[in-house]
Amino acid sequence: MNPTASSSGLDGVVAADTALSHVDGALGRLVIAGHDVETLTETARFEDVAAALWRAAGLAVDPAALGAGRVEAAERLRRLGDALDAADGMDALRAGVAHVAPTGELAVDAARVTGAVAVIAAAWARRRAGLPAVAPDPSASHAADLLRMVTGEVADAARVRAMDAYLVTVSDHGMNASTFAARVVASTGSDVVSAVVAAIGALKGPLHGGAPGPVLDMLDAIGTPDGAEPWLRAELAAGRRIMGMGHRIYRVRDPRAAVLERALTALDADAGRLPLARAVESTAARLLRDRRPDRPLCANVEFYTAVLLDAVGLPRTLFTPTFAIARVAGWTAHVAEQVATGRLIRPASRYVGAMP
Ligand code: COA
Repeated sequence: MNPTASSSGLDGVVAADTALSHVDGALGRLVIAGHDVETLTETARFEDVAAALWRAAGLAVDPAALGAGRVEAAERLRRLGDALDAADGMDALRAGVAHVAPTGELAVDAARVTGAVAVIAAAWARRRAGLPAVAPDPSASHAADLLRMVTGEVADAARVRAMDAYLVTVSDHGMNASTFAARVVASTGSDVVSAVVAAIGALKGPLHGGAPGPVLDMLDAIGTPDGAEPWLRAELAAGRRIMGMGHRIYRVRDPRAAVLERALTALDADAGRLPLARAVESTAARLLRDRRPDRPLCANVEFYTAVLLDAVGLPRTLFTPTFAIARVAGWTAHVAEQVATGRLIRPASRYVGAMP
């Protein structure tokens, strides 16, 4: 019999020591660079948290380097071949980021590649909308510049704060699949750009970073709070998973869902689909609890990501690339941590085939 990943006993094996973030799945607690995610999102901007992650990984990064990285990436946009023509934003990102030439200086490359992910994702979204790329402003904050590069307009302070809250919240999250992919590549002695390209590939999948677009599709299909129960019941009866619900580590509600929900309430207007999202979440949680009382399945970060990114004005095709725009801070810090260990990651497999 072929053992599944979860029955193999390999889940939960400690793959690395890290000073970057701590995920407590039972308590629903997330600590990033020594701070609870709740306090961090109230006070810090994305660049502050990226710098804290890099510092915790032993990298001293010039505070101006992220803005300079965006400018450098924008200058390279015309030389990306057909990368920006890809129909999928993550394909564009993977191909575009692969063009960044590593200098070999991790403290330099971490900011360059982090700047590049934002610029390439924004340029891809503009191209899809038939619009020219917007040049970055290195003096703006990363969140403000991202919104401007995508929409072409200067965002108001509330939207920038909400964007920052999102970018900070998902900047790092323990040994998730894409971070592990980045660390495996780094552990071979390869370069940080290759590690980030591998991580982008891992993040693309719907079980990791690809859920928020489908969450918004679900909210659109449900339409009103009253429509939640029949729609969700039909999905479950058809054997489909409810996007934005469940998590490999959290057995309670993902703390990031609460942070993003709070950031949404601070946003003006009616925060888009927030009331509908709350109704769908509570109905989904109840139905999943009835089906599987033994397996807590609560809202994960993707649930309110969809609502928040939509409310700040990003197109849903850009949701997963926006996850990468934030997580690249964590990836590059993990690469530095892994490189510092000097150890190759080489997990074992269990042979279940025939013997000669
Ligand atoms: N909707 C319905 N059922 C779900 C579910 C969901 N969102 N998530 C898990 N389950 C069910 C599974 O069908 C399984 O039931 P079974 O044992 O009867 O087959 C059980 O719960 C355990 O699922 P499992 O696949 O072992 O959990 P996991 O830890 O591997 O999965 C996720 C974690 C995130 C991959 C999973 O919850 C999921 O697919 N969620 C939807 C996608 C999503 O939101 N991804 C973003 C993650 S941040």
